[in-house]
Amino acid sequence: MQIRPRRNRKSQGIRNMVEETRLSVKDFIFPMFLIDGINQKIEVASMPGIFRYSLDLMLEEIEACMKLGIMAFDIFPAYPDIKKDRFATESYNPETFYLRAIFKIKSTFPEAVVMTDVAMDPYSSDGHDGLVENGKILNDETLEILGKMSLAQAQAGADILGPSDMMDGRVGYIRSVLDQNGYTDVSIMSYTAKYASAFYGPFRDALDSAPKMGDKKTYQMDPANYSEALIEAGLDTTEGADFLMVKPALAYLDIIRLLKDNSNLPIAAYNVSGEYAMVKAAAQKGWIDGERAMLESLLSIKRAGANVILSYFAKEYASMVKK
Ligand code: PBG
Repeated sequence: MQIRPRRNRKSQGIRNMVEETRLSVKDFIFPMFLIDGINQKIEVASMPGIFRYSLDLMLEEIEACMKLGIMAFDIFPAYPDIKKDRFATESYNPETFYLRAIFKIKSTFPEAVVMTDVAMDPYSSDGHDGLVENGKILNDETLEILGKMSLAQAQAGADILGPSDMMDGRVGYIRSVLDQNGYTDVSIMSYTAKYASAFYGPFRDALDSAPKMGDKKTYQMDPANYSEALIEAGLDTTEGADFLMVKPALAYLDIIRLLKDNSNLPIAAYNVSGEYAMVKAAAQKGWIDGERAMLESLLSIKRAGANVILSYFAKEYASMVKK
């Protein structure tokens, strides 16, 4: 034999040299769940190790994460039903706890990157990302609400807005609202290829935001579709997105690679709640090695082409490499 690939695997020292993909804490955005109140830290039942925090404890958690090298946070609010209505009015109420929290986080940690979520579902009595009328999700009417929500988040100090709603034309609409109001520096990380996925289940438990009727298939993408992701990527790019995101990550590694190969924008991937829950559940049962499964999953997302990884594992990964 002239060629023996095993020579490059013979020791840890050699394996380290030929390693093609390397994770770094700098790759990560840590998604966090915020609730109103003080001194609250409530574990999400389907996401062991992940909590809903009131602002005071979230600030402590962010500080702990920053000591581990995590610089970026994506904050999602959980609202009680009494704050919800058809029009998601609470989303742009300047006094609402989510917007006050964004302001407080940015003023406490100016060097942290704070990302927000733009979609109606946490504030919608229908539990949908858009405005519901006679069982239909209205597109253009939703854009106006998303515009108000985006402006309010920008005013609160968000660095990156994450439209996760999948309405047509929302990136361009949000970009023009931001620009007209002087927020030309606020970035947009578009949920470009967001699929109608069963892997969002635990997240909807965390926010109590499951749709009251129907599903999200008229706006989120069909898991069967590949080329359609390029249509979305083309639109988001011309509409002014700064990052393109694929979501979920693990069942859609081919889509991450597709966008990476077809775009010059940074590609983000969202390692979603159900992907986290599966690893945790199997590890708790002793069926897999949770830490190794975590590392392998995160590595596969990066190898597929993601420049940025949103993951509930971010802190655990950072503490592991710090040791
Ligand atoms: C909703 C939103 C969802 C997630 C992020 N933003 C759920 C959904 O579309 O129903 C899912 C995140 C996760 O599962 O970790 N706009």
